[in-house]
Amino acid sequence: EKQGFRHYMLKEIHEQPRAIRDTMLGAGVVADDVRFDGVDLLGKGLDACARIVMLACGTSFHAALIGRSLIESLARIPVEVDIASEFRYRDPIVRTTDLALAITQSGETADTIAALKEAKQRGAQTLAICNVLGASISRVADRVLYTHAGPEISVASTKAFTTQLTMMVLLAIHLGRRTGHLGAERARALIDGLQDLPAHIDNLLAASAAIRIVARRHQGARDCLFLGRGLCYPVALEGALKLKEISYIHAEGHASGEMKHGPIALVDNTMPVVVLAQRGPGYGKVLSNLEEVRARGGKIIAVATLGDHTIGDLADDLILVPDVAGELQPILASIPLQLLAYHFADLKGTDVDQPRNLAKSVTVE
Ligand code: M6R
Repeated sequence: EKQGFRHYMLKEIHEQPRAIRDTMLGAGVVADDVRFDGVDLLGKGLDACARIVMLACGTSFHAALIGRSLIESLARIPVEVDIASEFRYRDPIVRTTDLALAITQSGETADTIAALKEAKQRGAQTLAICNVLGASISRVADRVLYTHAGPEISVASTKAFTTQLTMMVLLAIHLGRRTGHLGAERARALIDGLQDLPAHIDNLLAASAAIRIVARRHQGARDCLFLGRGLCYPVALEGALKLKEISYIHAEGHASGEMKHGPIALVDNTMPVVVLAQRGPGYGKVLSNLEEVRARGGKIIAVATLGDHTIGDLADDLILVPDVAGELQPILASIPLQLLAYHFADLKGTDVDQPRNLAKSVTVE
């Protein structure tokens, strides 16, 4: 039941601290490693895994994009990501040294299941990340890693997404320790950072009322842009998907560096632009993108790092998130975007949990 929340989506947003904790417990996290006890992840051994090919749809595809960067940087294994419905039909190159990884909350998405079957048929080893025990995907994949988000009722995925992101960090640590690219000290720091996330998320959830005020201020908007760089580029894609699916506001996510290659033509003073501007290597660049938007009258909603005193002057609305390792920023940045989408939709009075034209699992191709 909804346990006093207006919608399942809001309840599920609030369950994220618990869901992330449970996902870590299930993975067998120790001080400086992630064991995935009992799951021989790489099957024939690490030498056999020359490349990982991730397959997913929708929100799970966004988790895969973040997973690619994490695994490439922490484990130095090349990763490709494909939309499941595209992969199947493009005569993909698959080798027996590939690990095909399907990411699917429900484990029932027809295109994702078919794509994994296709990869398997072409000789790849197969792994799935899934949130539902015994789902159809588990009959295709050689091995399954479970996120422990618990049942997700709302069509808009929230806790399933952030537990997928948690799983991506855990998998990257696991692989990095085995390829030898991730030292014990860095692994420990990342795991400590993961352990702190639930408390940080509780603090972010406490800002829900303030985010509702931001949504109210932009209530009349018909279009909205989301911009991010690096690991936060897929977070921008996800922020846009969430907003459009439940509020029916036209929303687009872009890599902020792509702005001047087209999307900036859309910006005028009726257009809210959500900018992911957490501190990190791309911060300076994000600031200049933000100035470009501002110069064209765009209304800036910035998601920035707590303690950032520069950005306040550039943004119309400021949402602050705690300072954490770059690898963990996407998880925290996602929380205010979920709340923003929720409040936009709720203020508009849409059917938040059952948006029009959408189904929770897309079991047709
Ligand atoms: O169950 P899956 O993870 O395979 O679902 C994939 C997409 O259908 C799903 O993430 C969809 O995009 C959500 N409604 C987004 O909130």
